[in-house]
This record gives sequence, structure tokens and C-alpha cells, in this order.
Amino acid sequence: MAMSDQFEVLSQVSKGTKVGNLFRSVWLPAILSSQLPKPGGEPVRVKLLGEELIAFRNGKGTVGITQANCAHRLAPLFYGRVGDQGIRCAYHGWLYGTDGQCLEMQNEPDPAVCAKVKITAYKVVEKADIIWVYMGEGEPPAFPKFPWIDLPKSQRNATVWLQESSWLQGIEGELDSSHVSILHTNPATMATSPVHQHYSATDLSPKILAKNTPVGILAAARRNADDKFYWRVSQFMLPAFSSIPSADFPIGGRAFIPIDDQNAYTWDFNYYDKDLPQAFLDYVGKGLAFPPQSNYQSYKLNTGTIIDTWIPVRTATNNYLIDREGQSLSSPTGIHGLNDQDRAMQEAMLPLQGTSGRVVDREKEFLVAADIAIVRARRRILEVVRDEASLQKFRDTIKDGSAYCVKPLDVVSDLDEIDAFVKKFDRELSPQLEPA
Ligand code: FES
Ligand SMILES: [Fe+2]
Repeated sequence: MAMSDQFEVLSQVSKGTKVGNLFRSVWLPAILSSQLPKPGGEPVRVKLLGEELIAFRNGKGTVGITQANCAHRLAPLFYGRVGDQGIRCAYHGWLYGTDGQCLEMQNEPDPAVCAKVKITAYKVVEKADIIWVYMGEGEPPAFPKFPWIDLPKSQRNATVWLQESSWLQGIEGELDSSHVSILHTNPATMATSPVHQHYSATDLSPKILAKNTPVGILAAARRNADDKFYWRVSQFMLPAFSSIPSADFPIGGRAFIPIDDQNAYTWDFNYYDKDLPQAFLDYVGKGLAFPPQSNYQSYKLNTGTIIDTWIPVRTATNNYLIDREGQSLSSPTGIHGLNDQDRAMQEAMLPLQGTSGRVVDREKEFLVAADIAIVRARRRILEVVRDEASLQKFRDTIKDGSAYCVKPLDVVSDLDEIDAFVKKFDRELSPQLEPA
């Protein structure tokens, strides 16, 4: 496949596309449970993989995620009323259950007509205060065994907000360890983010090493640490999940879930082996890391759809509120938080023609050794989506969910070679290997 075709494949997520099929093979976080706080309450407009959807909680508490528009004359269900059984279109009163079945037509008395109408509805599961959706056909895989998924509420945290770029630009940032020493490190104080040890501020050109795992890749950044090496190993799990190590803070990770080809929801997941520390909550509460400062609101995407989610305060249209004076004095960017800094870099990369600046023109890049993990991740995705057989093989790998039980690692070690390192720290990186 020509390089340009490969890049096109990677950014296309709608139904019937290769990467679209990959995303339709896994459970995806759709919204936070808190977005549907009460049975029978207001529905939420969601767009996923190019599909316009609506999420609602019926009067009995069951959540449905269905197509956003009524089957009759395609009016938006968002303005409808949610009741005990489901959502009723405001226009002519057609009622839909959480499984998409039309249950009543107020302007058509023949029940046989109603029985024939079923709108698209996806399988939904509510776990760890998140509503997850499976948008594929047939039986979904078992739920992914993320190490944080069954922890008590006080030990985990999830947030979500809008990223105005292709999902891939977001996940590539997770695999780009060298930028942390530069974009996120204060040149005046040499203070880097609290998830790094101080070596990240002194060694700006880490050696990047990558290795395939059953579910994706692990990407290691090896920095000099006096007479040893400072290893930071991140996990990338297909299609779009990361798990990033932490020196002092709870472990963090992201998911970049495509809204469409040009926009994504960024999810942030944190977890800790005890209650999340107050210092951490204070730090993230200021928008200094993930999530950025944002407001929950309705928002019209550049692609035309209105969604309900958290919209960052700092965006391309206000130059991320950059403080040029602060930039020259103490900050590498003059931009407030880590995610604001990331989005400033990722949302306005040189655009591929016709994408309104949301999909970077990867053919024009000039990559170096620091980009090895990004190249490896792109290749890994392309291998998996190459044909139906390779995608099926991936589906088999994730079928029981255990492939997602991986952990990142932040450690100083004598070892300098990736294979020896992975061998030594196998149990830490893949805790499912732990004897029961
Ligand atoms: S458009 Fe919804 S009931 Fe007519
Ligand atoms: Fe970053």
C-alpha cells in the first residue's frame, strides 16, 4: 500500500473502513455515568466513529445508546421525552426502547407497523462510572480487564473532553516521550511533570525502544540516570488506549476515541493502589494536567453535529490563552496545562488538504530516532487491519479481556537492553501472569 493510502486508512473511522472496523471490535467509553445522572432525565448527544447517537437512561435506570434521529421523519430524538420504557420523539410521538425497538406510534394505530420499526441501538455496559458501548455486529468480546476497572471509586478517576483533531494525533502524543522533556519541562526550574523523575529534565534525547505485545506495543524511553538508566515504559493497547507510568503520582492513561475523522473524545483514566492523594487531586483540579479546564456544554463540531461534552477553555480560536511574557520567563510554552500544551501542538498540525486542519499530512513529516514508537504503533495498527483474517486474529486475542491487563513502569535499572529489561520486569508489565 502506498504511504499516502496507509495514512488515509489510519484516519478513517466510519462504518466499513478498516480502522472503523477495528474500533467496532472493542468496548469503547462513550460517556461518563454522571452525564445521565437520573432515570428519565435529559438525554446526551454523542457522536462516535462518524455516527450520530443519543444516550438516555430510561425511567427504570437502563441506559440506551441509539441513533440520534427518529426513524419516521428523522427528527432529532434529543428533544424527545424520556420515560419508563424509553425515549419518545417529540414530533409525532414514536417511542423507542433502549434496544431501539419502536414500542408505540401515536400517529399510527396499527401495532403491526410499529413492530416493523427498529432503530440502530448498540450494546451498552456501565462499569467504573463510565458507560461503554460496543458498536460492532455479533457478540462483543469480554470486557477488557484494565487493572483499574474494579478498583473502589476512591482509587480511580475518569474524565473526558473534546480534542479537535484526528484521534491518531492524540494517541501518537502518548507514544512521544521525548516531547515531555521539552514541551512540558520548565527551562528555568528544570521541573518536569510530577509523573517523571528529574532525569527527564536533564536527558532531552531519550533512546526510544519499542516491542510488540499481544494487544499493542510497549514503548520504552531510556534516559541516562547517573551511572544507570531511567526507564519509562508506556503501554499502547489497540485501538487507542495508553497507560503511562508515574514516578510519584497515580498511574495515568488516555483513550482517544474518534468522534469522526477530524475530532476525538480524549479520556483520562487515573488509578492508585490507595485513595487518590489530595496533592494529586489539587494538581489536576487546577487544569494543570488532565483534564484541561473545561465546561460541560453543547458544542457544534466543525463537521456540523452538535454534541454534549466537556469543551476546553483554551482552544485554537483563543490561541490557548498563551502568555508570551510567561513563556520568556519561566514556562516552555506560556500555555497553562499539560493537555492544553499537547492540544496546541496536535490540533493545528499541517493539515492534509480537505480536512480543515484536523488530520496531519504525515507524508510531509521528517521523522527521527525519537519517533520510533510512533512509527511502530502506526505499523501495528496497519498490520491488524490489513485484512479480515488479521483483524479476526486480533479479535481472538482480546476475546477474554485479559490482554488489556497491562501496566506501565517507571524504574531506574542497570539494564540497557529492551529484551533483557522486559524479561526481568515481565510480571510488573503483564500482571495477569501473576500466579493466582
Ligand atoms: S419524526 Fe419522530 S415521530 Fe415523526
Ligand atoms: Fe504531552
